[in-house]
Amino acid sequence: MNKLLIISTLFLLGGCVNINKEDTYSIKKEALLEIDDFVNSIKPLLIASLKQDHTGASGIDMCSASAQQLTKNYNKTLSSNMKIRRTALGYRNPLNKPDDIDKEVMNKMMGSKTMTPVIIKTTDGYRVYKPLVTLQMCLACHGDINAMNPKTVAKIKKYYPNDKAVGFKLGDLRGVVVAEIKK
Ligand code: HEC
Repeated sequence: MNKLLIISTLFLLGGCVNINKEDTYSIKKEALLEIDDFVNSIKPLLIASLKQDHTGASGIDMCSASAQQLTKNYNKTLSSNMKIRRTALGYRNPLNKPDDIDKEVMNKMMGSKTMTPVIIKTTDGYRVYKPLVTLQMCLACHGDINAMNPKTVAKIKKYYPNDKAVGFKLGDLRGVVVAEIKK
């Protein structure tokens, strides 16, 4: 009888764990779809501005004027329990400053060198982190300051006097897009 009880309890527990796993899987999947959609809504603007001016100088004007608003607008399309934002360890706009949890997740990503999305449980829900890898096109505005166009560097200094988002190399973790989900 006791054995039966233990076995059925184990079954129940096993079931719960599975349900939780399933839950986390679908939350992560849904958040990543939104994150990708968000990134895909911004990237064409960046590519178009670089095509027009490959130095990135006019792109800095465009980003500084619209990045925050584009993020706000995107969030308006999401359900009220989800919010998307961008952050980085070396950030450009102080409004994108990471909190302690962000820093821990990004430090782990840097340490393990795995650029795969992660989901974590927080006190009031979940966070899904999608790493953004530094590509060739990012270097015009986030690369080696000595190799960047002086006009671009000057614009960055003008809009972001405390910029910490230069000096990245191809393949580096540039930052993350975070989806916060309240549950
Ligand atoms: C034309 C210049 C330009 C290019 C090219 C560019 N960025 Fe940025 N990036 C900016 C500016 C300006 C900001 C600050 C925007 C703001 O005010 O929120 C920024 C901010 C960010 C942020 C938010 C965190 C922070 O530092 O404030 C991330 C993440 C980011 N960029 C990733 C990338 C990645 C990845 C690429 C390449 C795919 C890229 N950027 C290409 C200009 C650029």
